[in-house]
Amino acid sequence: MALAIRHTAQHVSQDVLLSLEGMVTPKVPFWLMRQAGRYLPEYRALREKAGGFLDLCYNPELAAEATLQPVRRFDTDAAILFSDILVLPQAMGQEVSFAPGEGPRLGALDIAQLELNLEKLKPVYDAARLVRAALVPQKTLIGFSGAPWTLACYMIEGEGNGSFEKTRLFAIRNEAAFARLIDKLTEAVTAHLVEQVKAGAGAVQLFDSWAGLLPKTLFMKWVMEPAKKIVAELRKQVPGTPVIGFPRGAGALYPLYAAETGCSGIGIDSQTPLAWARREMGADVCLQGNLDPAILCAGGTALEMEVARILDIARGQPFIFNLGHGVWKDTPPEHVERLALLLRGFRR
Ligand code: CP3
Repeated sequence: MALAIRHTAQHVSQDVLLSLEGMVTPKVPFWLMRQAGRYLPEYRALREKAGGFLDLCYNPELAAEATLQPVRRFDTDAAILFSDILVLPQAMGQEVSFAPGEGPRLGALDIAQLELNLEKLKPVYDAARLVRAALVPQKTLIGFSGAPWTLACYMIEGEGNGSFEKTRLFAIRNEAAFARLIDKLTEAVTAHLVEQVKAGAGAVQLFDSWAGLLPKTLFMKWVMEPAKKIVAELRKQVPGTPVIGFPRGAGALYPLYAAETGCSGIGIDSQTPLAWARREMGADVCLQGNLDPAILCAGGTALEMEVARILDIARGQPFIFNLGHGVWKDTPPEHVERLALLLRGFRR
C-alpha cells in the first residue's frame, strides 16, 4: 500500500506510526495528552520566562523546549507540539486571551469577518521544525488542531464553561450562520494541519473535546461531517498522513465515527470501556487511550491495577497508550514516571 510505504520509509520504525498503520509492535508506544504543562516544575519555570501562556505558544524556541521537556523526562514515544487549539481562532481574527489562573477568554465573534491569516501561525510551524530536528528518528512529532465543533464552542461562548449552552442553542436557532462558521473552521483546521505536517509532524490529532454534548443528528452535522472533510482534504494535500480522531464523549457513536471519518487512530475517553470499543470497531483501527487522568493523579495501587488492565486489553492489537483526557495540573510527576516505567517494562 502506497501510504504505508511512505511512512515506513520516511520515519524509520516509529512505533507510534507503525501502530497507526495497524501494526502490533512488541512494545506499546505511549504519550499523554497535555504531557507538557503546569504539573512539571521545568514548565512552570519556562512559562515564567516567557511571560504569558500565549507568549510561550508564539515563541518557537520556548515552545519547542516545552514540547521536549516531557519527552526527555519520561522518554515518551511521541512529542505533541506545544501550542493551543485557540491559536486558530486568533489567527482568524478573533481576540483570545488567557488570564492567569483562569481559562481562556475570547472577544466578540463576527462570523462574516473571520479569515485565516496563516502568517500569524508561522511561529507554531517554526516550533514544529525545531522539535523535529531535535527528536531522535524513532520518536513521532504529533501536530494537532481543535475540531470545528469544539472551536465553535469557545468562539461563540467566549469562554470554556463546560456546558456551552449558548453555542448549542445557536447551532439550532441560527443553523445557516452556524454552518458558515463550521465551514470556515473546517477549511482553516485543514490548512493548519497541512502546515504542521509540512513542518515535520508525522501524525496529527483532531481534538473534539466537546463532541459528547451533541445528540446524534447534530453530532452527524457538526462533528462527523467536518471530520470526514478534514481527513479527506488533508490526505489529498499530504497523502498518507495518519490522523487520530478524538471525539471525546462520543459514547455509542464512537464506532460510526471510526468507520466514517477514515481516521487511522481513535482517541478513547476514560468513560468508554476499551474492550467494548475494540469489539465494536474491528481490529484494524488503532485505539489510543484511555487511562483516567484522576487515577494517574492519585497514583498508587489504583494506577498499577488500571495500567495492567488496559495493557491486557491492548495485548494483541494496534494500540497507543494515553490518557482519556489531559494530565491534571496537580499530578505528581513521580506518578507519570511510574507509569512510564510500567509501560517500558511491558512486552506483548
Ligand atoms: O502537552 C500538550 O498536550 C500540548 C499542548 C496543548 C495545550 N492545550 C497546552 C495548554 C494541547 C494539545 C491543548 C489542547 C487544548 N486546549 C484543548 C483540547 C484538549 C482538551 O483539553 O480538551 C482545549 C479545549 C484547549 C483550550 C484551553 N487551553 C483551555 C480550556 C485552557 C485552560 C485550562 C487550563 O488547564 O488552564 C488552556 C490552557 C492551556 N493549554 C495550558 C496548557 C499547557 C495551561 C496554560 C498555563 O500554562 O497556564
